[in-house]
Amino acid sequence: MTESTAPESPEDEHRRVAGVSAPDLLSEARRLDAADPLARHLDAFADAPGVTAYLDGNSLGRPLKDLPEKAAAFIREDWGTRLIRSWDEQWMELPMTLGDRIAEVTLGAAAGQTVIADSTSVLLYKLMRAGIAARPGRDEIVIEAGNFPTDRFIAAGVAKEAGATLRWVEPDEITGVSVADVAAVVSERTALVVLSHVDYRSGALADMPAITSAVHEAGALMLWDLCHSVGVVPMQLDAWGVDMAVGCTYKYLNGGPGSPAFAYLRTEHHGSITQPIHGWWSAADIFAMGPEYAPVNSIRQLLSGTPPVLSMLGMQGMLDIIEAEGVTAVRAKSVSLTDFAVRAYDELLAPLGVRLLSTRDAAHRGGHITIGHDSFQQVTKTLWSEGIIPDFRFPDGIRLGLSPLSTSHSETLRGIAAVRDALLA
Ligand SMILES: Cc1ncc(COP(=O)(O)O)c(C=O)c1O
Repeated sequence: MTESTAPESPEDEHRRVAGVSAPDLLSEARRLDAADPLARHLDAFADAPGVTAYLDGNSLGRPLKDLPEKAAAFIREDWGTRLIRSWDEQWMELPMTLGDRIAEVTLGAAAGQTVIADSTSVLLYKLMRAGIAARPGRDEIVIEAGNFPTDRFIAAGVAKEAGATLRWVEPDEITGVSVADVAAVVSERTALVVLSHVDYRSGALADMPAITSAVHEAGALMLWDLCHSVGVVPMQLDAWGVDMAVGCTYKYLNGGPGSPAFAYLRTEHHGSITQPIHGWWSAADIFAMGPEYAPVNSIRQLLSGTPPVLSMLGMQGMLDIIEAEGVTAVRAKSVSLTDFAVRAYDELLAPLGVRLLSTRDAAHRGGHITIGHDSFQQVTKTLWSEGIIPDFRFPDGIRLGLSPLSTSHSETLRGIAAVRDALLA
C-alpha cells in the first residue's frame, strides 16, 4: 500500500505540512484513518513502488494483490485444463451471472436485468438506438452539454442515423444537472434522455429518482451513465423506475484497463426493445445457426459477440469486498474523504488562488472533487514525476479521485500538500 512507500517519516511529513498553515490537518487525517472501519482493506491492493498518493482511482482502480494468482489459476485450470469445456461449465452464463452480482451489490436491481458486455461506449450506442426506436413519433434525444464526450458523440451519431435532433441541457457546471433543468427541455418530442449520475468533471451527483420521474412524466425513456457512481454511490435502479443504464467496471470496480462494461435494462422493456447489433450471442438460440435472426427475450439480448471472459476476472474480487462492506459503508468513507479533501483545499490551496470546481455539499457530490488553477497542466506533470498521481482535466482542472477502499485520508492530504508544494516551488 502507498502508506509504506512514503519517502518521508511521519514526523518529517507532519513538520512539513504543519509548517505552512495547517497544524492540525495531518492529525485530523490520522484520526480519521484510525477511526475508518474500511481501513483494513487498504492493504488488499497491489503495491505501486514509488507512488505515494494515488488519487486517480476514479479513472483506473488499483488491482487487488491476489489478482495475479487468480489470473494464473484461471489460465492454468479454467482455460488451460478444462479448455473449451469451460464454456459449457461456466462461461456461457458469466455475462449474466456477473451482471446479476453487480446489480445486487451496487445497483439496487433484481436479477435478470444486467449484463456484462462490450465497452460503455458500445452499450451506450446499443441502448440509445434501442431507446429511440422504442418511442416512435418522437424525434429528440436530450443530453447534457457537458456530458462525457463519448456520450455526446454517440448521441449525435444515433440522432443522425435516426433522423432525430439533440436537445441540450446546460446546467450549472459545479452543481450539475437538476430536475428543473431537465423539466425545462423535455416535451412530447423527447424519446430519450441521457445523463451521467455523477459528472465526470465536477463530481456533481444528480437526483436520479426525481429526474427519472420528470422524464417519465414527459413520456420519454431515461438512460443513466453510471461510470462515476457504480460501486461508490448507493442506488436503487428498480425502485427509482430507471429504464436503462450503463457503466464501466475499471473505475470503482477495479476491473482493470479495458475491462468490459455493464448494461441494465428494466424487465418490462425486454420484449419491446431491440438493440441494433444482432450478433449470435443475442439470438434466441445461440447455437441454432439458422438462416435468420430472432432475438432472445431476456437481458442476453444486449450481447452481440463472444464475451471477454478473461477481462471479467479483475472486478470479481472488488465486488466481494463491496458486498461484504455494503455500498452504504463505502459511500460513508467516500464522503469522509471528499469532505476532508475540501477542508485541506481550504487551508492549503485556496490561499494560493486555486478554485474549487466541485460543490461543498457532500449530499450532491460523488467520489471525486475537482480543483482549478492555470498552472495545473504543468503541476500535474511535476506531481506524476514525484509519484503523486492525480488526474489532469483540460484546460486547468486537477481531479482528485478518492477511491474509498484503496485511499486513506493521509494519502489524500499527501497529494493535496504536494499540489501546494508544486505551486509554491
Ligand atoms: C462518464 C463516462 N462515460 C463513459 C466513459 C468511457 O467509456 P468507455 O468505457 O467506452 O471508454 C467514461 C470514461 O472515463 C466516463 O467517465
